[in-house]
Amino acid sequence: MKTFILGRTKKEVERLVPEGQIKTVRLGNTKICMSRIADNYFAFEQACPHRKADLGKGTINKFKEVICPLHEYRFDLETGRCNQANCSDLKIFKTEISEEGLKIYMPN
Ligand code: FES
Repeated sequence: MKTFILGRTKKEVERLVPEGQIKTVRLGNTKICMSRIADNYFAFEQACPHRKADLGKGTINKFKEVICPLHEYRFDLETGRCNQANCSDLKIFKTEISEEGLKIYMPN
C-alpha cells in the first residue's frame, strides 16, 4: 500500500477538490479522480470499468454517485458498485482528511 498526501492543509485540499466536481490528479505514475461532498472525499480510478471512458469528464449526482460521460452508468462513490449488471465495479481508494492534508491510500 502506498500513501499519498494531497495539499498541506484542510483548506488547501478543499480548494483543490471543489465540492461536487471531479478533479483528475496524478499520484506517482497513476492518474485518479477525486471528488468531494461536504467533508467526504472520494478517490477512484479514472477509466470507467465499462469501456474505459474518462470519468474525469463525468458528473457527480446527489446520491453520491459518479456518472460516466459515455453511457451514463452510475457508480457508488463509497462502494464502487455499478448500477448495471454487465459492468464491473469501480475501483475506489480509501481517503482520510486531516489538518495536514488528504491522505490517499493506493494499492501497490
Ligand atoms: S464507458 Fe462508462 S458507462 Fe460505458
